[in-house]
Amino acid sequence: MISTVELIRRRLSFAKPLLEAIFSLEARLSERWTAAAHRRLFLAQWGLHPLPEFFEHKIGLYWSWEATNAPHWVERGIFSLLAMKPGCKALELCCGDGFNAHYFYRARVGSMVSVDFDPKAIAYANKHFRAPNIRYELADIRTNMPDGVFDNVVWDAAIEHFTETEITELMSSIKRRLTPEGILSGFTIVERLDGKKSLSHHEYEFKSKDDLARFLEPHFNNVNVFETVYPDRHNLYFWASDGAIPFR
Ligand SMILES: C[S@@+](CC[C@H](N)C(=O)[O-])C[C@H]1O[C@@H](n2cnc3c(N)ncnc32)[C@H](O)[C@@H]1O
Repeated sequence: MISTVELIRRRLSFAKPLLEAIFSLEARLSERWTAAAHRRLFLAQWGLHPLPEFFEHKIGLYWSWEATNAPHWVERGIFSLLAMKPGCKALELCCGDGFNAHYFYRARVGSMVSVDFDPKAIAYANKHFRAPNIRYELADIRTNMPDGVFDNVVWDAAIEHFTETEITELMSSIKRRLTPEGILSGFTIVERLDGKKSLSHHEYEFKSKDDLARFLEPHFNNVNVFETVYPDRHNLYFWASDGAIPFR
């Protein structure tokens, strides 16, 4: 006895080549239109002043990944995910648009508090990347870092937005909020060879892996700073903990 659904599938099989051709054309046309729309959005956001402090990663997903042949923007989500155990309690600092929380961390965390001091970022995250286990909150982490004890703290693409003194103080605040085995993970960039800042909002850009490690090592027994290098960008990633870190 075959089900009704199976019966319909069999009856419609004769139309498969036609349906495939129509939907494939629709998919290709909408892909081009979506890419062009996101390119225009990028030009408006980053071509005109004032420049935003966070990037809408849907622009990466739908346009710049392909247009600039640059896969590095998804690395940070994967590397921080590697440091998270299923069901963990996590805190994300300087979450920006919420893309990483939504596309990477929500699949693994039990709960995550993602904070940013830009009301636009939090409004965007709540509108586009809502998830039952993620809570977006407005907070300046220098004065108002959420209280609690967390298995993971994620600090992606933001440590360079603080001065050296602030980074030192923030490291102590982060350490106080981690469980004994908790892991801090994140991403930043190495400063450009010509010494110019990559973004006007940056306070301190790191010179090298060692330059970043010097902020982590006073607080954590196990520190791994590693890099990926692309023609247009030199990325630094970090895992730091008193417990185990990935691949050790
Ligand atoms: C380049 S974005 C990174 C966003 C996101 N983490 C990512 O990986 O794409 C830097 C973010 O840091 C936030 N930020 C800068 N200073 C902050 C502070 N004192 N407290 C909270 N957020 C801050 C900015 O608003 C911005 O959203």
